[in-house]
Amino acid sequence: MSILIKNGKVVGVGEIADADVYIEGESIVAIGQNLSYKADKVIDAKGMLVMPGGIDPHVHLDMPFMGTYSSDDYTSGTSAALHGGTTMVIDFILQTQGKSLYHALGEWQGRSNNKALCDYSFHMAVTDFNDNTKKEIADMVNKEGITSFKTFMAYKGALMIDDRQMVGLMNEVKKQGGMVTVHATNGDMIDFLVAKHRSEGKLSPLYHYLSQPEITESEASGRFADMAYHTGVPAYIVHMTCEGALNQVRDAEKRNQRVFAETCIQYLIIDASLYEKDFDGAKWVMSPPLREKKDQAALWAGINQGSVQVVATDHCPFKWEQKLMGKDDFSKIPNGHPAIEHRMELLFSEGVNKGKISLNKYVEVTSTNAAKIFGMYPKKGCIAPGADADIIIFDPNEEHTLSVKSHHMNVDYSAYEGWKVKGKTKTVIMRGEVAVDKNELLIKPGYGKFVKRNKVNGII
Ligand code: URP
Ligand code: ZN
Ligand code: ZN
Repeated sequence: MSILIKNGKVVGVGEIADADVYIEGESIVAIGQNLSYKADKVIDAKGMLVMPGGIDPHVHLDMPFMGTYSSDDYTSGTSAALHGGTTMVIDFILQTQGKSLYHALGEWQGRSNNKALCDYSFHMAVTDFNDNTKKEIADMVNKEGITSFKTFMAYKGALMIDDRQMVGLMNEVKKQGGMVTVHATNGDMIDFLVAKHRSEGKLSPLYHYLSQPEITESEASGRFADMAYHTGVPAYIVHMTCEGALNQVRDAEKRNQRVFAETCIQYLIIDASLYEKDFDGAKWVMSPPLREKKDQAALWAGINQGSVQVVATDHCPFKWEQKLMGKDDFSKIPNGHPAIEHRMELLFSEGVNKGKISLNKYVEVTSTNAAKIFGMYPKKGCIAPGADADIIIFDPNEEHTLSVKSHHMNVDYSAYEGWKVKGKTKTVIMRGEVAVDKNELLIKPGYGKFVKRNKVNGII
């Protein structure tokens, strides 16, 4: 199968060019003006942007969490991703404390094999670092192509590791050529505040927010950066929400350290006022919680200054029935919200179309930087000869409205119901196949493949 995309505006990190793109099999073969290849299929992309497929490096599909499972499995979650213009996701494997990393890998392979529509990879969350786990790190990197190791500084008793384990893990991961990523919030402080609010009978979703003040995130981000500085490991903070945490990254830069930072679309465009809506606020109960307008301003600035390199989703959907598990107690509301389908269009609409970021920056933070940081570039994350043909054809002007009635995520509400968006994914090419065209899914579960990633060194 060969495809020729004609007359589009091809966008990369450093350039925007009127050009054609020729694809053969799974790869891009040529980019140039007036290409004259004879192709099986010709797509006229006049007036459209032609961009690298999105890479969302922070999703939770079919994940056991807080007594239930996130409601999108590998098929529904990756279908929704593709409809929105994301062609690759990185999901999180959670080690069960007391069990091995390989045990967890087997569980996630069981839930993902032959089910995905877009390509995917795994981060390995190390929740129990000990002598046995230490021995498995080399195999994860060298045999499995899993080169990033997630840590939690919160969720004590289930996922959290202490600083001694963190430093031990960092030393081993550095030795093996990997990266340590972190959910950076102070778990003990949060547990104290949760217990205090519950004992005072303060049980609504608002108290989820009030139990995780900004300082819990900035303190942990700074502590993580310090441990990474000490060990020299490549380091990445996931789902950064606030000015205080960003300032810790900026401080690290002053001592010539690089700590990569990821924010998520929700932290840029919605804020903590949503928790004032009684139990409806449960739709946005996530950790860390939504913040203030001043934090949004800091994060947009961080993106433009290059201190925030990635905009992800932390997609972790739960149906309303699952959210109701916490109707009498905020601490039992499953944490997470659905966004995998909307990241590309929302960031375009709120960021590019409203003049907050450039088109080139958009491609960087939605695709190219994640590919570079996580050891997949230039196979993924760019439109270049030899790269996988993961491409979106995007109408920058089409207006539409987000709704549970039209989304493809397996959730019975939308966290963005009624949101007016300017910019729409029209066609998605996934490793050389037209995967979505005009809202229609054209590939089958199993087309999406596991991507083994290369070693990383913290330089992009
Ligand atoms: O609320 C969230 N973020 N749920 C998913 C787990 C995590 O902490 O990323
Ligand atoms: Zn997290
Ligand atoms: Zn997450």
